[in-house]
Amino acid sequence: MSALQELAAIAVDVIRILGLLVLGWFRFFFPTRKPVDGEIALITGAGSGLGRLLALELAKLRATLVLVDVNFEAVQAVAAEIRALRPDDKAAAFAYKCDLSSRDDVYAMAARVKSEVGQVSILVNNAGIVTGRKLLDCPDPLIEKTFSVNTTAHFWTVKAFLPAMIESNHGHVVTIASSAGLIGVAGLADYCASKHGAVGLDESLRYEMHKLGKTGVKTTVVCPFFIDTGMFEGVTTRFPLILPILKPDYAVAKILDAILTNQSILCMPRFVYLMPFAKSILPTQAMDAVVRLFGVSNSMDDFHGRSSANSTTATASKGRTDVKSH
Ligand SMILES: NC(=O)c1ccc[n+]([C@@H]2O[C@H](COP(=O)([O-])OP(=O)(O)OC[C@H]3O[C@@H](n4cnc5c(N)ncnc54)[C@H](O)[C@@H]3O)[C@@H](O)[C@H]2O)c1
Repeated sequence: MSALQELAAIAVDVIRILGLLVLGWFRFFFPTRKPVDGEIALITGAGSGLGRLLALELAKLRATLVLVDVNFEAVQAVAAEIRALRPDDKAAAFAYKCDLSSRDDVYAMAARVKSEVGQVSILVNNAGIVTGRKLLDCPDPLIEKTFSVNTTAHFWTVKAFLPAMIESNHGHVVTIASSAGLIGVAGLADYCASKHGAVGLDESLRYEMHKLGKTGVKTTVVCPFFIDTGMFEGVTTRFPLILPILKPDYAVAKILDAILTNQSILCMPRFVYLMPFAKSILPTQAMDAVVRLFGVSNSMDDFHGRSSANSTTATASKGRTDVKSH
């Protein structure tokens, strides 16, 4: 390529960026929502918290729900709730037991879903666990489990369901990550690292779809601050007006809207959008002071997680050292 041709190619790219900037702002102010009736939506960790609420919302929009969880009774109960919402529709919801920390379990579940329900067109990687231990206090098996559920399982589900989406150039991969996937937090090293991995997977996947020209395969990554689902019981925030502990209904309404409008990145509350920006422009010590100011470094001090009596996750309370089995 001659220097002139190179210059022309750069000019075209710059014009494209400006055009996409305008288009992005237009879509922000005038979003269009896609229909999801008839879509097959698979949600991992659908037995409780965000997964359950999102399943109910997608069911109201007449998507077919595939509910996956290690807690089979919990997903069966959610499937029953969905069937009660849509008594006319026997194929409204399907429940599957799957331990996402096992690759074999994930692929076996995926094979059953494809033959019993059909090709998944909306994949929501939502299941997650937290140990809440300081780095040196966290037993190795718990660290491995955190990564296998919060990060590695996403690879297996994406590998199982993405090929059909690519073939039809139609689909959506949703990654429920965390604001802890954008910034480190004292007392959350394993969780933060696993969520950074999930954020990286989403971003790379988005670029791969662009490169393949599969514009019909959308991706969304969700990075919320703490949500009052029970998973992070005991955490605190210093400035609840700017950085509130979110209500599950609010978080799910925003996630649903992000899916329907094909929003690529959703941070909640909006303040979280500033974190990566602040991190990249502030000197490290100034950023550390900001993190201290907002109480992020102390947010885990009183964390105790869900009490084991009503625990449906592999969350380990602070005093335990064993891996919780299901
Ligand atoms: N709650 C928060 O404060 C918060 C904040 C940011 C991000 N998130 C993320 O949102 C997602 C949902 O969180 P939530 O608050 O609804 O949690 P939750 O504990 O209510 O639900 C998690 C679900 O995942 C399931 N699960 C756990 N381990 C599993 C495994 N090995 N295999 C299959 N299923 C398994 C559990 O049984 C449970 O039903 C998680 O990825 C979490 O990391 C939560």
